[in-house]
Amino acid sequence: MSRTSLELRSTITPDGTLRINLEPVPVRAPGPGELLVRVEAAPINPSDLGLLFGPADMATLATGGTADAPVLTARVSPAGLAAVRARLGQSMPVGNEGAGTVIEAGPDLQHMIGKRVAMIGGAMYAELRLIGRDACIVLPDSATAAQGAALFVNPLTALGFVETMRAEGHTAIVHAPAASNLGQMLVRICKADGVGLVNIVRSPQQAELLRGIGATHVVDSSAEGFREKLQDAIAATGATLAFDAIGGGEMTSTILNAMEAVAARGMESYDRYGSSTMKQVYVYGALDTGPTILRRGFGFRWGIGGWLLFHFLQRTDPATVSRMHERVAAEMTTTFASHYTATISLADVVKPDIAAAYQKKATGAKYLIAP
Ligand SMILES: NC(=O)c1ccc[n+]([C@@H]2O[C@H](COP(=O)([O-])OP(=O)(O)OC[C@H]3O[C@@H](n4cnc5c(N)ncnc54)[C@H](OP(=O)(O)O)[C@@H]3O)[C@@H](O)[C@H]2O)c1
Repeated sequence: MSRTSLELRSTITPDGTLRINLEPVPVRAPGPGELLVRVEAAPINPSDLGLLFGPADMATLATGGTADAPVLTARVSPAGLAAVRARLGQSMPVGNEGAGTVIEAGPDLQHMIGKRVAMIGGAMYAELRLIGRDACIVLPDSATAAQGAALFVNPLTALGFVETMRAEGHTAIVHAPAASNLGQMLVRICKADGVGLVNIVRSPQQAELLRGIGATHVVDSSAEGFREKLQDAIAATGATLAFDAIGGGEMTSTILNAMEAVAARGMESYDRYGSSTMKQVYVYGALDTGPTILRRGFGFRWGIGGWLLFHFLQRTDPATVSRMHERVAAEMTTTFASHYTATISLADVVKPDIAAAYQKKATGAKYLIAP
């Protein structure tokens, strides 16, 4: 049976207008290996905001369209348009992950009807999602959709950091910004697994929050003596690997310089090329979209790279990935629990005042959509 689903779409027009609206989309019946899921909860993660708003100027959010078919609009500057040329004019579905109840299933998956699943695969900001069984985790009967909505992106990324650390021969991690939803998961993982973790935050409140969930090394970039304290925490943990989601500005550079200063402490004689300790930072986000600035005082054994969950999953052996999935499912209400500021409807997403609130990317201010 074919059905219709309301789906959130984001379009940037060639004349520089962002348009976000709800579109009725036909959904076919599931074939073999497929499930039709009624979406009940989907988080708004920073990566979703990147696709939803692109480079639009958030100060220009406004309502367009009609009362029956409202459209959220914003202006995109010529420089912003140049950066998103590949998507101009395309109506793009949004929402990386979510959870819901299976309402129809392919002939081989009839036993799945009625089960609640967590899903990854895009287009989750919709009433219905046709999806392959492989992209789902079956949730326990007691789990709510909200508990299952965010079991892929941040949990697997936080676990992926620890796997990357082991695979590349490091023994501890520096993380910024550490009070994020993902950062709090990383604190719990590293505590349970006995991995040294240096948490960089930018306010005393964030430092308190992380200490409250068991973090040992927390350094506040807004406090006096930040660089010295960062060095001391790096020395205490032996961290030579960092993950930085700020991206723009000087955080990556500051971390590399602190690691080098710690490595230099152990050098017996001066070497004008710096220490032989390998120092690696992975930039895995763009919370600051400005240029990444390097002040090179960190010798010649260093690396900076990009890190993306989907690339990590592609290059990691299936046994490791399945072990990660099992851990997330087993610890979904503890290590990998997400907390939400508010739950909004699909119709709320296109309201300017609500959009201004959910696009903030602030600590503890994550929104959940219940379509
Ligand atoms: N590469 C990947 O595969 C991958 C996968 C998952 C997540 N991520 C990235 O991981 C990051 C965290 O995601 P999340 O869902 O955990 O986010 P979240 O809960 O919304 O938290 C965002 C955090 O970033 C801080 N922040 C925002 N702008 C900042 C800036 N310019 N400088 C310093 N700190 C800033 C906020 O602190 P304040 O309250 O002080 O603003 C807040 O603590 C995002 O950048 C996301 O895109 C990447």
